[in-house]
Parts: sequence; structure tokens; C-alpha cells
Amino acid sequence: MCGIVGYVGEKKAQDYLISGLKRLEYRGYDSAGIVTLDDEGKATLLRAKGKIANLEEKLARAKRDDHIGIGHTRWATHGEPSETNAHPHQAGSIYLVHNGIIENYKELKAQLKEFEFQSETDSEVLAALINSFYQNGQYPLVNAVVQALKLVKGTYGIAVVSEIEPKEMVVARSGSPLVIGVGHDETLIASDASALIGHTKRAIYLNDGEVAVIGKNSIEIKTLNAEPVSAKVEEIETNLAAIQKGGYDHFLLKEIMEQPESLIETLRGRVNLKEGMVHLGGPGLSEAELRKIKHLIIVGCGTAYHAGLLAGYYIEQFSPELTIETVIASEYRYRSAYIPENSVALIVSQSGETADTLACLREIKKQGVKTIGIVNAIGSTIAREVDGGTYVHVGPEISVASTKAFTSQVVAMVMFGLTIAQAKGVKGAMLRPYVEEIAHLPEEIRTVLDKVPDQVRKIAEKHAEYDHAIYLGRDTAYPTAMEGALKLKEVSYVDANAYAFGELKHGPLALIDDRFFEVVLLPKGALYEKAVSNIQEVLARGGHVVVVTNADRFDLPVEDVVKIESSAELFAPLLMNLVSQLLAYYITVCKGFNVDQPRNLAKSVTVE
Ligand code: F6R
Repeated sequence: MCGIVGYVGEKKAQDYLISGLKRLEYRGYDSAGIVTLDDEGKATLLRAKGKIANLEEKLARAKRDDHIGIGHTRWATHGEPSETNAHPHQAGSIYLVHNGIIENYKELKAQLKEFEFQSETDSEVLAALINSFYQNGQYPLVNAVVQALKLVKGTYGIAVVSEIEPKEMVVARSGSPLVIGVGHDETLIASDASALIGHTKRAIYLNDGEVAVIGKNSIEIKTLNAEPVSAKVEEIETNLAAIQKGGYDHFLLKEIMEQPESLIETLRGRVNLKEGMVHLGGPGLSEAELRKIKHLIIVGCGTAYHAGLLAGYYIEQFSPELTIETVIASEYRYRSAYIPENSVALIVSQSGETADTLACLREIKKQGVKTIGIVNAIGSTIAREVDGGTYVHVGPEISVASTKAFTSQVVAMVMFGLTIAQAKGVKGAMLRPYVEEIAHLPEEIRTVLDKVPDQVRKIAEKHAEYDHAIYLGRDTAYPTAMEGALKLKEVSYVDANAYAFGELKHGPLALIDDRFFEVVLLPKGALYEKAVSNIQEVLARGGHVVVVTNADRFDLPVEDVVKIESSAELFAPLLMNLVSQLLAYYITVCKGFNVDQPRNLAKSVTVE
């Protein structure tokens, strides 16, 4: 979703602004813009619809040596993608970039009668409001910003510069992330730390309700109520290699292929094979607190929700006394659901910034329920607001479609479930198979990823013309099928849906015809034979079936069988999901679509 960058220092601001915006491209956007100011405050404003390359074309004719500036990639919410609606927005002598949504912009706009609005955006209203308090520099910019923000309802991460005070910028946040990079004779800002990598490793994460005045060697942070804040400088752990393609054609493929390593990071120091136990420090719950847990609520959106569903299936297998409810954040936040006593909520989010998930977290906390984050992005808002947490540590996920985070989210949640079971005294013999499989999962993933890509590419080539797909599975393969269908639809635009295999005859079976192909995830186990009968029902109706299985023998006349050769049984669905991920990737490549940045989507969904 929208991205913000800003620079004040000794170098050319335009250089950082453009490179920073490129780093944020993965978040999804439809227009971009930058403004820089020279030492006298003369502004150079450049905005363009579409890709940053369009902005760069304009920049080629407007290169400046200016040392201060702000930039933005916009993902349209109010008003179509256009140059006029792109940020920065100008009002008098000030320029503003904004992430988030100003909910009361209509009322505010009605009060700003004098101002001639150019755009349809809520953000321009905020710029005009700040300008109305600024009175052409009669008051310090920061005061005008604070006064305006006190009237705003909604969410924002903003950066503001003024032609009248061209040595400093003002930034603030409430609900939209903002990171300040502390450099030598320069200070950088971004909505996502990945823009800062290669410039500085030292970062200050602004909190909601804070505003900062930033100069090249100064950072002064206060709350909106003028209370001084002493900033905590944290280290950015990510390195440059983690945000580059590293020889792959696309980030999506790179991120699928790096799952053996990313899962190792998730497991590091947390699994003790000898004892057959897991050790999670982050949740910060005592043995007594763990023993008391009776109910788990797992909250997430999209892939994170699917990870929660799948983890729930596993945890209930070894925690007989625990009830588990996995919920979609955008629904749950408005439900009047009763939360039983002794509940704990797992808040699952790769980005740690998803607006609906964050809102749920806050609602759940209000009810006095302990919240545990299963988060990837270090220092993100969710990571900071939960009571405790387990980082999945998969490194940056750049491709919009989430892959490596899914695998690690499932495993991290299962490990949390194991932690509860251990505390409750569930027999080691019950838990050991899970611990052992988890410990060996990175190797198993590596084996599958070494073997299957060529075959999956060929299957993709055969199926790239279909516009419809159905993913099918039972038990743990069902949420996995849901995730497979989501992956395919979001990147290849194939209309893909998943069904629990047993549900097929209750309706979806009517769909089967030559326009559809079916992907069946078929793990060995108690429901194997039942699923095989289900496949026969599909074949009898002329289905075009691709089977992914770890069964030793499978001899129905389906179109393709992808064999998962692995000793992992419990977690075989996670290995099958690698096939779904690759299938989505290769089908999209065949179709010639933008794999890493599917249309209409954003990586981090910071608005509701
Ligand atoms: C799908 C995908 C999305 C995200 C969802 C939640 O590939 O990436 O469905 O999983 O937007 O995002 P996070 O995990 O950042 O909260």
C-alpha cells in the first residue's frame, strides 16, 4: 500500500527519494511523486501516474541538488489514480505526503472554504488544514501540524515540508508506520525500513500519537500533547541481499525457493530434538499461565488467516483440552463474539501492519485477553502492541503474494501449541512426532524444491489456458488447498476456489466441466481412501485432475501426479503447498502477468 520516504542531509535528496520509492514498489501503488526544496525554499514538485519509471522520465528534465525532500507512492483510495491525485499535495507553502485515511475529510473540507482543492483526495484536505494553521509561516510548521492532527479522525503517517522552513521536515503517525533512519549528517524517513537499508542501520520507530521535527543532525520527538519522547534507536537487521532478487527472475520464485533457509531461521534455538520439546521465549507466558489456557483465538487476513486455520487443525490434534477458533480479522473486529475466560489470542501478520488485524488486536486487548504476535516484520506496529510474541524471522517478503511467511507462520503457531501442551503435561510420546517432523522440515522442503519445479512448470504450461480452478483437500489439506487457491487467483487471475472435499457433492460438483481444472492435495492418512473416492467422483464427471500426494502408489487416470517424496507425514500438506506456490508462479509466468505485483493488490494493507 502507499509508501512514504523523506530525506534531509548533505546528499542529493532526489537520489534517495527515487531509490527509496523503488524499494517500496513491492507494496503496490498506482502513482508516485516527490518534492524537494533548495536552500532558499524553492520547490521542485514532480508527480506521475503509473510506474516510478514515469516519474524518472520527468526527473531527467528536473534534476536538482536540493538537500531536503519527501516522496510517496500512492495506492488509490479516494479518487482515481492520476497525476493530480498523486502526492505530494501542496497547500500554500507546504507540501505533504500521507498514508492512511482521513475519515472526517468531508467535514474538514467543508470548513476550508477559501482553499481551491485540486484533487479528490482526503490527503489534500489534511495539507490544506495544516496550511490554514500555518498562516504562511507565522507559526512553526510543527505547531500547525499538531493543531491540524488534533482535528483529524482516521489513520495517518505523514511527512510535511515547508518552503518557509527548508531545513527541517515534520513527520507524525497514527495507525500508519513511520521509521526514522539516523545517518551521519543525514536523516531519512520511510514508511518501511526496507527503504533505509544501505543508508543506515539505525532506526527509530515512531509510535502512534507522536510527531517529530527532523533536521540533518537532529530528531526531536513529542506527543501531540507536547510531552517530550526519548527516542529508542534500534538496529535494522535486514541486509541488502535480502531485498534483492539474487539471480532469480522474480521475488516470488526467490521467496518460494528460500523456504528451507527461512524456516531454519524460524526454528533457530527453539527446537530441542533430544528432549523432544520446543522452547519459545517470546510469548513471555509462565508455565502456570500456559497451563491455564483453555481457548485460542487465531486472528489474521488472507494467507495469515489460512496459516491460522491450518495451525488450528494441528494444535487440536495434540491438545485435547484446548478449543481453537481461527477468525478473519475484518469480520471479527465487528462481531460481538464472546471470549471465554482463559483465552489467549494469536495475532498473525507478516507485515505487522495490516489495519484489520491491528484493529482486532486492539479490540481483544480491551477485553483483557492476552495477545501473542506471530509476526515477521520486526518493530512493526502489531509486534510492538502485542503482550508477547514470536517473530517468524523469514526476512523481508517482497513479492505481494505471501509464501515463505505462510510456512513459517504455521510452524511458529504449532510450536506455540506445543508449548501449551508441554506445560499442560501432555505426554512426550504424543508431542515428539510433531517436534521431530518440525526439526526436519527444512530438509524435507529442500528435497521437494530440488525435485518438483520442472514438473510443476510443465503442468503449468498445460494448464495456463484455463480460467477456472478448484483446489480440494480434506483435514489439514483443506486449509492448505484454500491457501493454494488464493495464491493462484491473486497472481494469475485464474478464478480459483477451494473446497473441503467432502463438501463437493453439496454443490460445487455441479461446476466440473472442461473450463475447470482441479488440484487435489492428497496426503496419506486416515482420510486417504475417502479422498480417493472423491477424486473418482470428479473424474466420472470429466474433471481435469492434478494430484499432489505423498502416497506410495496412486494409479487413478488423472492428468498429472506430483509425487512428494518425504518422510514427513504430519506436515506433508506444507510440502504440498510448495507445489501450489510453484504452480501459481509458473502459470502466471506463462500468462505473462506481473508476478510480483499483481494488479489491484498491495503488500501491506494498512487501510480497512
Ligand atoms: C496473500 C497475501 C495476503 C496477506 C494478507 C495479510 O498472498 O499476501 O492475503 O496474507 O494481506 O497480510 P499480513 O500477513 O501482512 O497481515
